[in-house]
Amino acid sequence: MDALADLFEAARAVREKAHAPYSRFKVGAAIRGRSGRIYAGCNVENAAYPVGACAEGGAISAMVADGETGIAEILVLGWTDAHPDAPGLTTPCGGCRQRIREFARPSTPIHVAGPEGIRRSFTLDELLPESFGPENLG
Ligand code: THU
Repeated sequence: MDALADLFEAARAVREKAHAPYSRFKVGAAIRGRSGRIYAGCNVENAAYPVGACAEGGAISAMVADGETGIAEILVLGWTDAHPDAPGLTTPCGGCRQRIREFARPSTPIHVAGPEGIRRSFTLDELLPESFGPENLG
């Protein structure tokens, strides 16, 4: 089995549950914690648009609620149902890169996927170089 098949399937399943009536852009995120357990989250939009939440934040909340604080890798799966073949990368937004940073290492993989599978894999350091993190606080 593809090493990422379980993570992809978790993201695919949770993406179906996304609450995205305004953008119609459904996103699923799946984290493999350092324990090996998988945590999933979807975007949850709001009629008051800025209050909406990203998929990555939901997956991080599920991980922390389970008592885990280390991300081994994360997969983000997003596309708009109106244009499922649209190219492009659903990379984590700037705020979510920082949220991931809290629980990851510079080398932690961030896999970006579309309906057909993984499109590209980055490290956290590639997406958020020279970042500020817990170590900075001493
Ligand atoms: N979104 C995510 O949940 N994660 C990403 O990585 C990119 C964008 C959501 C936010 C909003 O609900 C919708 O996708 C369109 O921006």
